[in-house]
Amino acid sequence: MSIDVEAVRRQTRGVLSVSHLNNAGSSLVPSPVLETVVAHLRREEEIGGYEAAEEAADRLEGVYSSVARLIAARPNEIALAENGSRAWAAAVYSFPFVSGTRVLIGHTEYAGNVIALRHLARRHGLQLVVLDDDSHGQVDVEHLQRELERGDVAMVALTHVPMANGLVNPAAEVGKRCRAAGVMFVLDACQSVGQMPLDVQSLGCDVLAGTGRKFLRGPRGTAFLYVRAGVLERLEPAMLDGHSAVPTGAGGFEVRGDARRFESWEASAAGRLGLGRAADYALALGLDAVQERVAALAERLRGELAAVPAVTVHDRGITRCGIVTFSVKGSDARNIRSRLADQRMNVSVAPLSVLSDTFPAGMRPGEDMVVRASVHYYNTESELQRLVDFLR
Ligand SMILES: Cc1ncc(COP(=O)(O)O)c(C=O)c1O
Repeated sequence: MSIDVEAVRRQTRGVLSVSHLNNAGSSLVPSPVLETVVAHLRREEEIGGYEAAEEAADRLEGVYSSVARLIAARPNEIALAENGSRAWAAAVYSFPFVSGTRVLIGHTEYAGNVIALRHLARRHGLQLVVLDDDSHGQVDVEHLQRELERGDVAMVALTHVPMANGLVNPAAEVGKRCRAAGVMFVLDACQSVGQMPLDVQSLGCDVLAGTGRKFLRGPRGTAFLYVRAGVLERLEPAMLDGHSAVPTGAGGFEVRGDARRFESWEASAAGRLGLGRAADYALALGLDAVQERVAALAERLRGELAAVPAVTVHDRGITRCGIVTFSVKGSDARNIRSRLADQRMNVSVAPLSVLSDTFPAGMRPGEDMVVRASVHYYNTESELQRLVDFLR
């Protein structure tokens, strides 16, 4: 089954006003998602927030099943969160780190995760080890293997699709090595969820974090966390409230037995329903078909851009996705973004590398901004052509 581009564009009102090539930032929500959110807000207006949630209780419960289906997990392994960073941190900050152990990360780890890991390293006396890239620019699985064999590895944290590179890291291969070594594998899937099929069994991850607003096309302020049932008991949440635990006699408490131990009580019910609707929408289109179209559009764009003399395309990796990064000789990336915005073409800018000690030769922090054009299945070939023509 392939994507009916006309049909999905009819359900994407934003395409009437912009060429939206910032799906890695925040995608245009499809009308079924918008209607779900607005309808629930209306019910809150009409009958009250708690009452509207009670009325929608089954559908709110169904969100966990929808998200679980999206990544081939079980509903009790899913927690909902307000953003991908919090979802990821809720699990990582709960890990029982032992001083002197090591955490392995890739060069393309998300900047916010690196900060959090440096924080944890300082707090617990951990060593952060940045794995080499292989010759394709993706995480070097052989280096990972050597580090796992050296021992003392508490955790491997990897970003599946980096924020500013079109590559898809070989997560399943990493997962296989971590499983064999008995090491916790945390996968940041914020940029991959919604643009490709994800299956936590074949990825071999213990923890996976995803955000709603990017390629999944959910509302802003929504995200989810997967924690494999088998590791849940090892992760006692860094923070608890009356939703994640219950008081017991004699001044004690009992932590929930499912992944919702990482949630807090108050949340946007409308946003959560929208997230569930976005997951259903993606599943109905078929993630294989989504990936096929997104990857093909992005590869076409890379080819067209590479043919423009002043343009350099930076994406690496063997498997590539919908993120296309490039720079234009003699032009600042921010300037290009604003000139494209004047033409109603949305792109973003991003640093090529987030680890200050791994900038490409000759570049320093702040000097390595590239333009990021991120395509989705509802974009058209003519939108891409317009971008290329303008740059030319
Ligand atoms: C790779 C990656 N991980 C995590 C995040 C964080 O997601 P959120 O903004 O929902 O916290 C982002 C956001 O840009 C990202 O690109």
